[in-house]
Amino acid sequence: MKKTLVLKVDSQRPDEEKIKIAAELIKNGGLVAFPTETVYGLGANALNVEAVLELFKAKNRPLDNPPIVHVSDFKDLHALVEEVSCAAQMLTEAFWPGPLTLIFKRSKDVPEVTVACLDTIAIRMPRHNVALALIRESGCPISAPSANLAGKPSPTSAEHVLDDLIGRIDAVLDAGPTHIGVESTVLDLTVDPPQILRPGGTTYEDLRKILPKVELNPVVTADKALAFEKARSPGVKHKHYAPDAEMVVVEGDAEHVMSKMKELIELYSGEGKKVGVLGTDETVRSLEADVIKSMGSRTDLARVARNLFKQLREFNVEHVDVIVAESVLTEGLGLAVMNRLRKAAGYRIVKASE
Ligand code: TXA
Ligand code: MG
Repeated sequence: MKKTLVLKVDSQRPDEEKIKIAAELIKNGGLVAFPTETVYGLGANALNVEAVLELFKAKNRPLDNPPIVHVSDFKDLHALVEEVSCAAQMLTEAFWPGPLTLIFKRSKDVPEVTVACLDTIAIRMPRHNVALALIRESGCPISAPSANLAGKPSPTSAEHVLDDLIGRIDAVLDAGPTHIGVESTVLDLTVDPPQILRPGGTTYEDLRKILPKVELNPVVTADKALAFEKARSPGVKHKHYAPDAEMVVVEGDAEHVMSKMKELIELYSGEGKKVGVLGTDETVRSLEADVIKSMGSRTDLARVARNLFKQLREFNVEHVDVIVAESVLTEGLGLAVMNRLRKAAGYRIVKASE
């Protein structure tokens, strides 16, 4: 067991002394969780093989899933990648610092473990003063996956980080809740046309304004729709963002979704289950269940995104047996929200129009 230091800092103007303490830990091969504008990351010196191995271990993360490397300056890119294309230049000018991760062909100087032996590397510059100060003070690029145990919802506060990782990491810089609430968009620039591999904080619509040929990789919108009856059986469990409870997502047009949610709540209650609802302002007033949460208004997808992971974790504390979740439109941040909801539910999707 490690002693996990909690360093409270102001999110705009972080205390230099505390940043120095955290940076010293990173320089010595330690693990420090820190806030970004999306979710909290768990950082290690990206060029230190032992530190990166410790990072995988602390999270129980499989070694074949490389974390994102975080930089604090555009110039830091050159030592990590083979080439910065014209498209990369345009995208970084438009979106960095910000919630956009770019996949490049990597430089041979990057340790194999940092990139899980791939010949590519994922890099982003976060838009958060604490993250930027930590990277600068550490003097190295920082590998940072989301600071949760593998399979759990990503952490949007230092409390979430400690719930999963206390005793497993050296420190957490606590600057309060994160602003965006879902992770960065991952865009692969090594294929033509460039493909979004994970929808996130930078929207597809905004990316296409800069690079009109950007496409969605099929995994982004993948659903494995289940018939209503089958949705009740456990099915294959994809461990991603998973709450402790079983979860189903109800998809379709607003009116049908509402009646299908009611139907499911009744069905599960009838089975003696403690039922949680993850809905929106527009629906929760008309629904009855053991625990009811609204992610926000359907028309305020930024708020929905900000609440999503926090509320998935809250259901664990309330010990519900099953969560009935509502879908939102797949536009703007809604694309990332729906991708996370489907994964959290292990693709147990109920089509309300059926
Ligand atoms: O917002 C975020 O991106 C947060 C904060 C902490 O920056 N980080 C984050 O990291 O979500 P992580 O490790 O949980 O997710 C990294 C994603 C994974 O889906 C991983 O498979 C993908 O990026 N990835 C990393 N390297 C890749 C590569 N070379 N090619 C394709 N995908 C890659
Ligand atoms: Mg993650």
